[in-house]
Amino acid sequence: MAMKSHHPLRERLMPKKARLGLAVICGGIAIALIFGSGFPASAGGGEFPPPPPLGLDEVPVPENNPMTPEKVALGRRLFFEKRLSRDATVACASCHMPRRGFSNGRQYGIGIGGRIGLRNAPTIINAAYNDTLFWDGRAKSLEEQAKGPIQHPAEMGANEIHISKTLGTLPFYRESFRRAFGSEKITLDRVVKAIATFERTILSGNSLFDRWFFGSDKSALTPAAVRGFKLFRGKGNCVKCHLVDSFSAPFTDQKFHNLGVGFDSRPPHPGREKITRRAQDKGKFKTPTLRDITKSMPYMHDGSIKTLEEVIDYYDRGGLANPNIDPDMKPLKFLKSEKSDLLEFLKSLDGSPSKIQTKRPSH
Ligand code: HEC
Ligand code: HEC
Repeated sequence: MAMKSHHPLRERLMPKKARLGLAVICGGIAIALIFGSGFPASAGGGEFPPPPPLGLDEVPVPENNPMTPEKVALGRRLFFEKRLSRDATVACASCHMPRRGFSNGRQYGIGIGGRIGLRNAPTIINAAYNDTLFWDGRAKSLEEQAKGPIQHPAEMGANEIHISKTLGTLPFYRESFRRAFGSEKITLDRVVKAIATFERTILSGNSLFDRWFFGSDKSALTPAAVRGFKLFRGKGNCVKCHLVDSFSAPFTDQKFHNLGVGFDSRPPHPGREKITRRAQDKGKFKTPTLRDITKSMPYMHDGSIKTLEEVIDYYDRGGLANPNIDPDMKPLKFLKSEKSDLLEFLKSLDGSPSKIQTKRPSH
């Protein structure tokens, strides 16, 4: 697949000239030179998609699904479209609500007929960068991922025939598909391509942290948040899995780890082991991003931790012991003041999302 590579994103995506310039200047602060203020004034100004916000790499786009404004517009509409579900009650946005950090504010997802899944709805903020999707990484692209909930009997419970029939009766959609794909034909493949294209615009960056770390605003962070960042990188070792480098800060290593979450439930979820069938992957889940983390409570793959304070306490205890726990999980012995500094830092990761991401379609 075109967007997969073993090189770090920045190697693939940054213009060579910019990289050379950076090497000379060296260090984290230099990214501002490439991305400027981080935010494009408007999407209508020619370049599409607009450059990503400060602190993020360029979004990888698969060759077989190029981004166009028409496809984004259709995808946005479909993301909020309840008629995509069998009984017209559930949309993607029912479980991924913009105002709840693109999660749903509940422990589990709730699908058609009130059916409850057993996993927490992860944010889809910056999912555009993920090599694999779902907590256990079972999908390899946003396109492939979107087919899951649409067809899942406990989520939207629909199929291609239902969708092409339902949407096909609406002139608005026939016209939108024609604009996005060149003809009125409505297929599942086109639906997921449009939704994935919209998801590639749901980016969160340009947070206070980004302005402090990558930009030149040295007063953007409070002293407590600065101390929190030091703990994040130092004593807490959070950065081992929630990556920050000198070019961008994805806050995930895209890998799978066992923190012991859910090991007190019977039976604990196998996690990554279910996909790879390897015993060493038991209880491992994908590291989620921490951007906009204040909004997407409750936390973890099973939604078992309600607040960020409790997440910090969980790490402080070294997670929950089990035979396969990650070697980086150790009791941290944080002072009370250190816990509150770390929390301040996490709060600084709320982004300044652009309008395209959060606005519900008006019709
Ligand atoms: C009933 C609630 C529900 C609905 C409806 C729903 N999702 Fe999800 N979504 C979830 C849950 C729960 C997960 C995690 C499931 C897992 O990992 O096994 C998830 C995972 C995801 C992920 C993976 C994110 C990541 O980083 O791994 C993406 C992307 C996503 N959903 C997009 C969508 C789209 C697009 C739609 C509409 C076509 C949709 N979802 C509909 C609950 C829902
Ligand atoms: C060994 C890798 C690793 C380390 C070290 C680590 N994390 Fe995590 N983090 C993860 C993984 C994996 C998850 C999801 C685990 C799950 O659901 O079972 C996670 C989940 C989280 C969540 C919840 C995110 C969500 O959307 O549900 C927060 C908040 C968080 N980590 C913060 C931190 C902080 C703060 C530290 C340092 C004290 C830290 N992490 C250290 C890998 C790590």
